[in-house]
Amino acid sequence: MQETGQTGPAPATRVDLGARFEQEFGGAPDGVWQAPGRVNLIGEHTDYNEGFVLPFAIDRTARVAVAVRHDSTVRLLSTYGDQGVVSTILDSLQPGTAKGWTKYPLGVIWALRERGIDVPGLDLLLDSNVPLGAGLSSSHAIECAVITALNDLTGAGLSAQDMVLATQRAENDFVGAPTGIMDQSASLRGSGGHAVFLDCRDQTARLVPFETQPAGLVLLVIDTKVSHSHSDGGYASRRASCELGAEVLGVKALRDVEVADLEEASGLLDEVTFRRVRHVVTENDRVLQTVELLGGPGPSAIGPLLDASHASLRDDFEISCPELDLAVDTSRANGAIGARMTGGGFGGAAIALTPVDAEQKVRDAVVKAFTDAGFAAPEIFTVSPAAGATRIS
Ligand code: GLA
Repeated sequence: MQETGQTGPAPATRVDLGARFEQEFGGAPDGVWQAPGRVNLIGEHTDYNEGFVLPFAIDRTARVAVAVRHDSTVRLLSTYGDQGVVSTILDSLQPGTAKGWTKYPLGVIWALRERGIDVPGLDLLLDSNVPLGAGLSSSHAIECAVITALNDLTGAGLSAQDMVLATQRAENDFVGAPTGIMDQSASLRGSGGHAVFLDCRDQTARLVPFETQPAGLVLLVIDTKVSHSHSDGGYASRRASCELGAEVLGVKALRDVEVADLEEASGLLDEVTFRRVRHVVTENDRVLQTVELLGGPGPSAIGPLLDASHASLRDDFEISCPELDLAVDTSRANGAIGARMTGGGFGGAAIALTPVDAEQKVRDAVVKAFTDAGFAAPEIFTVSPAAGATRIS
């Protein structure tokens, strides 16, 4: 979903968005809102199969300062990139017309207007420290910050579920990425110390405690710097395989296929479609097992499930890449108790659940392995579950 490959500023260097807004637009904003990126702990490519996912909101956010205007002009500016102020008119918003990061706020405005909500003209300044293109849902962080702001400013009274569906509409029909509901659900419903266990069929969510520190662990994110886009074909082709599999098996969605059904399914599907289906079916099962373990022994017990998820994404779903595999394998070989790629694939980030005393060894080994392989230097940082979207001033 990302295109620019730029990275937002580190958390410590965040700008005073209100002051910067005044400087850029010549007046104070009506407020500042923020929404986090997410890490998916487990449950990859299961959301659009009406299955289960277990993401959490991270402590990196997109922030927007917004002021309502008294005309139908929308002016957008970000603190990064070199696009300058982008100005447009509400009535001219059409899918396929926006460029770069502006697709995300404009997509949300478009989706709200499609729902009949009277969005006014506005000035908007964006700042984000969710790394772009890293598979941490920087685009959904922007969309969720914007929709939270517009829900407040228009008094539309949208529920979290309404906002999830409106941002999905923005992604699918305005941005052109046929993605599911996981990322925005994590960004809107996340909570400190918890992962969001989401049933993507009925969209019910339950917060599951997930804290690494008491278990003597850290969750490392290894951003491979391989940038990806979910609007350029690979994601859509996997989704099409899943839909074909469900159709041939005569079910509404792959959610309805159990692990025990796989043997029979192998005789009904072509070899590639079968492997795509097997990934989704076993991944749903791994999510349920992970939730069970987090409710019992805790995070130190989930490593093998993370490893199995990666193997399935690499071999059956075929959406990993050499950099992600190297990050995962090197982390495991140097003390991580479980590791996997996270997000939509074809690049982005891996996560490695690592004992605190092995953290430095894993970091050093991954950096060295990337250098030795001739890959770009990865960015490695820790994340922990954080709060979902909110107004901050
Ligand atoms: C992207 C999409 C999500 C989900 C993941 C894969 O992040 O936005 O809806 O499909 O890929 O699990």
